[in-house]
Amino acid sequence: MSELLKCSHLNKIFNEGANQVQVLKDVSFTINKAEQVAIVGSSGSGKSTLLHLLGALDKPTSGHVWFEQQDIFKFTANQQAQFRNESLGFVYQFHHLLPEFTALENVAMPLLIAKQSVKYAEQEAMAILTKVGLHHRAKHKPAELSGGERQRVAIARALVNKPSLVLADEPTGNLDHKTGEGIYHLLRELQSQLKTSFVVVTHDTELASKLDRSMSLIDGVLQNTLPLGSD
Ligand SMILES: Nc1ncnc2c1ncn2[C@@H]1O[C@H](COP(=O)(O)OP(=O)(O)O)[C@@H](O)[C@H]1O
Ligand SMILES: [Mg+2]
Repeated sequence: MSELLKCSHLNKIFNEGANQVQVLKDVSFTINKAEQVAIVGSSGSGKSTLLHLLGALDKPTSGHVWFEQQDIFKFTANQQAQFRNESLGFVYQFHHLLPEFTALENVAMPLLIAKQSVKYAEQEAMAILTKVGLHHRAKHKPAELSGGERQRVAIARALVNKPSLVLADEPTGNLDHKTGEGIYHLLRELQSQLKTSFVVVTHDTELASKLDRSMSLIDGVLQNTLPLGSD
């Protein structure tokens, strides 16, 4: 299996006035291409902080993240923006869809921002909405969709640029059990069709146990970094 992302000895310390809070402690792991990995941790354990570092949305106090062998913290601002636009997709717990736009327009947005034509953007958006089973909801606005449908639209939006890695922050955190299951099956389908890698941070241990590998983050320390089933 080939390596997509590797982080080594990541530390993150927040300075709150005189108080220093060490949120990540010497975190190291590797994600392979097309692998779906869960990072489980209770609230406040550092999950979102870790995802922000992997997406170059924040800088570590020390340590490195390599994406396809490139040190993402050595990128210029433009290279970082390009890395986020072309190689990454983000899914948040609260979908973050734009309420005044339709599902189709929301999904097309990253392509429009990347200056693609409206025609191409809508064509690609429709193709990915079809993959997540929502082509019949394309013209609906987020308020007209169920929680699970909104999260599917958010996943479609994260995938429209065909990123090699999607970072998902508690994607099932707001959904009932059955809808959460549906999201899991969707991730698996997308993995086989598109070979997308996912890092899913979650406190849903059931979802985590079904992905390729599950690690836990306890007070900023990462544990169980071996693939499931290996010694
Ligand atoms: N910008 C920040 N400044 C100071 N402390 C922060 C900041 N962001 C997060 N933290 C603290 O870091 C810890 C981990 O936060 P977070 O990564 O959001 O946890 P999780 O996503 O696992 O709930 C929490 O104690 C939180 O208060
Ligand atoms: Mg969080």
